[in-house]
Amino acid sequence: AYIGIDLGTSAVKLIIMDRNGSVMRTVSKDYPNHFPQSGWSEQDPLDWYNRTIEGLAELIVGFEHQIEAISFSGQMHGLVLLDEHDAVIRPAILWNDQRTTAECRYLNEDIGIDTLNRLTANKALTGFTAPKVLWVRAHEPEHFARINKIMLPKDYLLYRLSGCFATDVSDASGTLYFDVEHRCWSAAMLDILGIKEQQLPKVFESFQVVGHLHAELAAKLGLPANVKVVAGGGDQAVGAIGTGSVDDRMCSLALGTSGVVYVATDTFTPDNTNAMHVFADGSGYYHIMGVMLSAAGSLKWWRETVLGNSNYSGLDGELAASQDNAVFFLPYLSGERTPINDADARGLFIGMDNATSSTDMTRAVVEGVTFALYDSLCVIRNMGIQVDTVRVTGGGAKNNFWCQLIADVMHVRVERLAQEEGPAYGAAILAAVGSGAFADVRSACHQLIQVQQVLEPSDTRVSYYRKKYGQFKEIYPSVQGLYK
Ligand code: XUL
Repeated sequence: AYIGIDLGTSAVKLIIMDRNGSVMRTVSKDYPNHFPQSGWSEQDPLDWYNRTIEGLAELIVGFEHQIEAISFSGQMHGLVLLDEHDAVIRPAILWNDQRTTAECRYLNEDIGIDTLNRLTANKALTGFTAPKVLWVRAHEPEHFARINKIMLPKDYLLYRLSGCFATDVSDASGTLYFDVEHRCWSAAMLDILGIKEQQLPKVFESFQVVGHLHAELAAKLGLPANVKVVAGGGDQAVGAIGTGSVDDRMCSLALGTSGVVYVATDTFTPDNTNAMHVFADGSGYYHIMGVMLSAAGSLKWWRETVLGNSNYSGLDGELAASQDNAVFFLPYLSGERTPINDADARGLFIGMDNATSSTDMTRAVVEGVTFALYDSLCVIRNMGIQVDTVRVTGGGAKNNFWCQLIADVMHVRVERLAQEEGPAYGAAILAAVGSGAFADVRSACHQLIQVQQVLEPSDTRVSYYRKKYGQFKEIYPSVQGLYK
């Protein structure tokens, strides 16, 4: 059996999976997210480790002797710093931390987007790791001087569990000091940041074995001595493995609090507009990704905070019975990452009249989120990548109306999966591939992931939404100046 560990932002989720892909047990352990100043977001790596060990102990009861391998999925971009004694120097600075505006300006303007693009295939965003390194260097020089090891969140778990100082290509892609095309650290970026390659982990493919579980830890947990530890990857790349979106041009669309459009590509395809993230994937290839910050989060805000209704059971029927309307919603409640990359953008309703109902506005919210995700897909299609099928996952995927809306707005076939365990499942698949149960990640996905339902776009609805999306596109550019 195989263990997948997903180190999330609110909790660590652990699953145990058998050779046929059946999930035998799931355990989840929460930990706090600290916000010491406005825009800051931190966590204590020791919380990650302690909760993971507690979770592992519960997870394996009764399966101890069947465990062959462990792998990981992790929240990306976080900065974890260890000193020469392997003590954590300061709390980890997370992916959703916004303190590095000045460092991003320096990287994008003084170093220049063209240089960053050439070296790393991406530009600087506040969440990425490189600007955080610069921030620590500028604001906490005493911490910077003590740095012996720099790692990403899931790599801290891997290090504590195995003693191996290792990372993988997909998570490394989100640092902005990794040469995505050639799958290695960028020496030129390390110079710009003032760090050395010896301070960084060795890079593996996500499905490669990096070592074994520490003998003492294995003994303490009652596990065999030879449990393999497989590199794992960033949560989006590993989540895509969990949905089987790994073949060239396959697209997965995650409708969680945030929304992600993820397209797998066999070849390295740079985005000359720099609107998307271009990263290595977890199966030996590449992917292009757009991340919107408030997807199902916008619906939650509208329904729960504004309407005071946290019951979602009637939502599908309400939307199915709704009429077409002329209301629009811009879903930028937390600012926006891709494609507009505007931290100051905010939400907006426009187009109401005396007859507008709350249902019309609910529908506008769902449409607005879908249009904003479609913005990312359009950029990806403009890069010459055809996408005709989308696998929809996350909380929003349970809504039939929303899935059909995606088919009609994006002019794609929508596939829903039989079961969905998220990135922890992808991590268990990586553990299985690493221990030789499958030839490679793609064949594991083909054998394990089942599509349950397919929704086709309707021609009349495609043309209706083409027009409405055209109108939506006009709104943000005309209000952009208001937010500054
Ligand atoms: C990916 C990203 C998120 C985080 C947290 O670029 O920022 O997926 O990894 O989940």
